Amino acid sequence: MTSERRIITVDGVGASGKSALARLLAERLGFAHLNSGLLYRAAGYLVAQAGIPVDDNVGVGELLRRHSIELRYDRTTGNQVFIDGVLRDGEIQSQEVSKIASHVAKLPAVREHFVCVQRGAFAPAGVVAEGRDMGTVIFPDASLKFFINADLRVRAERRRSQLMEKGEVADLEAIENDLARRDFEDANRQLAPMKPAEGAVLIDNSHGSLEENVENMYRLVVG
Ligand code: DC
Repeated sequence: MTSERRIITVDGVGASGKSALARLLAERLGFAHLNSGLLYRAAGYLVAQAGIPVDDNVGVGELLRRHSIELRYDRTTGNQVFIDGVLRDGEIQSQEVSKIASHVAKLPAVREHFVCVQRGAFAPAGVVAEGRDMGTVIFPDASLKFFINADLRVRAERRRSQLMEKGEVADLEAIENDLARRDFEDANRQLAPMKPAEGAVLIDNSHGSLEENVENMYRLVVG
């Protein structure tokens, strides 16, 4: 047993249910949950507000340095992101922000900006770190790594229900196209592309209940 805190990484494709899996796994283990996608969404939100081109690495880097993006975790509320001290919740989950986030996530200035905050998040607690590059770049020494996938149609249906809960109407086919495009952007970028880390356990979250899949992951962690 080492004194180092334990890190479990949960990477995977968008709308695969990885946030719910990571959050429940963290609760089960008594760990904190780090939803790193919220940081990229916050960056996307700021870029949208400022009207800066999504490929302006220098401009976006300066913009991030002028604002504060803080991620908090609490067992009851889960992760919450505060931009300049203001809680931003629904705004950063919109389809527009999702799209901009996937573009700005390619920029070196953006990825570098969030490295330290992710590595230090919620220390000294154990952390279930969720995102695209948690196991490959941010926590290469994590004690266990997962990669979550699910059928495109199942993911599109999930995303549509989430959007409907927030009052956004969206067409299933349009969501499918959007998810497929974002997968492509995330997997084919130069920096920190989305891919399973070496040795990652692959989980197909298309079928089976959330509880069953979390239970399987938990068993592997406590092994
Ligand atoms: O997980 P999500 O859909 O909330 O992520 C939003 C965007 O941020 C997504 O396009 C990929 C990007 N992202 C990333 O590049 N690296 C991460 N560790 C997490 C998210």
